[in-house]
Amino acid sequence: MYQLSGDLQNFSVDKIADLKNKRIVLRACLNVTVDKEGKVIDATRIDESIKTIKYLAENAKQVTILAHLGRPESYSKELSFWNVHQVLQEKLGQEIEFVLFQNSPKNLEAKIILGDNIRFFKEEESKDPDTRMNFAKDLAQFGEVFVNDAFADYRESASTYDIAKILPSYLGYKFIEEVEALSKFSNAANLVSVLGGAKLSEKLDALKALAEISEKVVIGGAMAYTLLKAKGVNIGNSLYEEDKLSLAKEILNNYENKLVLPVDHLIASEFNEVASKSAHVTLDEQVPDNTVAIDIGSKTTELFVQTISGAKNILWNGPMGVFEWETSAAGTLAVGKAISQNSSAYKLAGGGDSIAAINKLGLTGFNHISTGGGAMLAFIAYNEFPTLDIVINQ
Ligand code: 3PG
Repeated sequence: MYQLSGDLQNFSVDKIADLKNKRIVLRACLNVTVDKEGKVIDATRIDESIKTIKYLAENAKQVTILAHLGRPESYSKELSFWNVHQVLQEKLGQEIEFVLFQNSPKNLEAKIILGDNIRFFKEEESKDPDTRMNFAKDLAQFGEVFVNDAFADYRESASTYDIAKILPSYLGYKFIEEVEALSKFSNAANLVSVLGGAKLSEKLDALKALAEISEKVVIGGAMAYTLLKAKGVNIGNSLYEEDKLSLAKEILNNYENKLVLPVDHLIASEFNEVASKSAHVTLDEQVPDNTVAIDIGSKTTELFVQTISGAKNILWNGPMGVFEWETSAAGTLAVGKAISQNSSAYKLAGGGDSIAAINKLGLTGFNHISTGGGAMLAFIAYNEFPTLDIVINQ
């Protein structure tokens, strides 16, 4: 678990000296949900970025905003910020110049500038440190000071990490809020981690570290099936990750007493909403051939709820099933309720899918809801957080 040393407020954006004469490079998290055209469907992350952007827009000489959207291979309209730009401008109530940086950005006069999706540049996430650093040097020319407000974008890239080696660096309000809330988990007693959802590989890696520090790790959703398959259980046509089977076996061997896996499932003949309407619960942990699991079953729900009720700290990331479909929302609802209604625990939830489930199912009572899914798990699971460390150890 990350141990915060010192007071983050010393690195707050409002500690930048002589701000009115400074041009700022701001890394924000604008990784919102968009439709096929790139139209913003859920603006939560824009809302959360506004406070820092507004402060800099009002007080700095200039602010250039960098951010990513999705995981593009190359330019696409869907992952361009054309609509994010409009929404951000409306919410800020000020004009923002939208640019593709190839178009001589260094001469821009505008007060607030938004660069298009930074991941359109391959250099941003290059595996070659020199390539990344050279790109970071280009980005650093947009200002004299760097501010990172993208807690959720925790992976080391040119615009979240390398640039902080070049410019004096600070943290935005959202970044600090997240770290301060998550730090309350430090030295957590009786931690029960509840994991689910579809970003399997990322969670399987963090799972090992989480299992070390948790009393129990409750696992539902798609990621459970890689573990069940590794255990030798028949999973029918349920989703799993072949290349993670050996890691899954290792985790099963090492943490057998800590893992709480599904003991029955809601299954459908096919993975679609129409088929989900005729779903039924299995007798045991085996998923019959030619069927697919879409939610945890009733015995599993009981087992998970009971495990959660004894916890003093609860970490929740990822739904238990396909909560977007009416028939398969029950497992996530019951587990979400058991977490939110445990009145003696510190309750932390995070990640896009969990937030969507919390909103859709009307769950309340969490101590903190983090917008970062992978970032939240990394913060709790490991003792390093490179994009934070590079700022506070400069
Ligand atoms: C997220 O949505 O989890 C963050 O913005 C990070 O995105 P990434 O997983 O594509 O790096």
